[in-house]
Amino acid sequence: MSDGDVRERLAALSAAAWTATAVGVAIELGVPARLREPTGAEALASGAGLPVPLAAALAEALVAAGLARRTDGGFVGAPALVALTDGPAGRYVQAETRAGLLQMAAFFDAATRGAARTGWAHADERILDAQGTMSAGAIETLERDVLPWMTGLGKRLDSGRGAFLDVGAGVGAVTLELCRRHPALRAVALEPLDAARHLAERNVADAGLADRVHVRGTRIEDLDAHEEFDLVWLPGNFLGPDLLPGALATVHRALRPGGYVVNASLGSAGDDEGAVTARLRAILWAGDTVEPERVAGWMKEAGFCEVVLMPRQPNGLVPMRARKPSIA
Ligand SMILES: C[S@@+](CC[C@H](N)C(=O)[O-])C[C@H]1O[C@@H](n2cnc3c(N)ncnc32)[C@H](O)[C@@H]1O
Repeated sequence: MSDGDVRERLAALSAAAWTATAVGVAIELGVPARLREPTGAEALASGAGLPVPLAAALAEALVAAGLARRTDGGFVGAPALVALTDGPAGRYVQAETRAGLLQMAAFFDAATRGAARTGWAHADERILDAQGTMSAGAIETLERDVLPWMTGLGKRLDSGRGAFLDVGAGVGAVTLELCRRHPALRAVALEPLDAARHLAERNVADAGLADRVHVRGTRIEDLDAHEEFDLVWLPGNFLGPDLLPGALATVHRALRPGGYVVNASLGSAGDDEGAVTARLRAILWAGDTVEPERVAGWMKEAGFCEVVLMPRQPNGLVPMRARKPSIA
C-alpha cells in the first residue's frame, strides 16, 4: 500500500464519518420529517431554521447515505426513514444516533488530551440520557417479541408481588419504562456511577414512582439478594469477562425460581468493521468482548436453563435470555 493509498483510505474514512455526523445532525433537527414530500432547499431551510446551503448539504448527506433521493428541484426522504424517525420509535432512533456521536466525540476529545480510558464514567447528562433512552427502546421489543415466550412472567410482573432488578440502571430509563407498562411492578435499580444515579433518582421522583422504585449505588458483585426478583436486566455489555460469570451467579441467587434474566453481549468474532467496532465499544464500556455463545455457557454454569440467544441487532448487540429453574 502506497502513501497515496493511505491518504485515500483516510479521506474515505473521514468522508464516512462526516456523512454519519451530518445524518445525525439531520435527525436531531427533524430534517427527515420535513422531507416526507418532495421539498426544495429553501423550504427545508426555512422550516428547519437553517441557512439554505446548510439545509441543502444535510439533505445531500442523506442522499449520499442512501436515506433520501433528489427530486426535481429538491429532495425526498426514504419513506422508511421518515416513518422511523417521525414515528413512535423516533425518540429511540434519535437517542441511538445521539449516544453514538456524542460518545465518539468524547472518546476522540479524551485522546487529544492524553486521557483515553476504559470504563463508563461519563458526566455529560446528554450522553447518560441518550444511552438510557436508547436502552429503554429495547423494552418495546422485550414486551412484543420476548415476554410472550417467558412462561408466566407477564402474570408475575402484574401480580402485585412482581419485582424487577435493573443492574446498571443508568438514568433509570429501562426501569421507568417497564414500571410504566406494569403498574403493579416494583423495582430495584442498581447504579454505582454517581452522575447517572442522581439522574435516575430525579427521574424516578419526577415520574412519581419513588414508592415503587428503589435506586441504590450497589455494584452487582456486592448485591446480597436471595429469591427476591422475577426479572433481572443485566448489561453484560458493560460488565467485563472477569465480572460476568460471578454476576450471573449473583443474579441466579437473586431470582425467584422460574424467574428470568435478560442480558446483552457485544462480543463478536471477525475483523469486519461491525465486529471490530462492537468490540471497541464493549472495551470502552469495560464490557464483555467474548462471544455470546461463551456467555451462554456461563449462564448454564450459573444454573440457568432455557438459555436463548436472539439474533444480533444492527447495532451489534446480541440479546439473550435465560430462566432459573422452577424447582431448585
Ligand atoms: C449505560 S448503562 C445502561 C443504561 C441504562 N439501562 C439506562 O436506562 O439509563 C450501564 C450501566 O452499568 C453500570 N455498571 C457498570 N459496572 C457495574 C457493576 N459492576 N454493577 C452495577 N452496575 C454497573 C454503569 O455505571 C452504567 O451506568
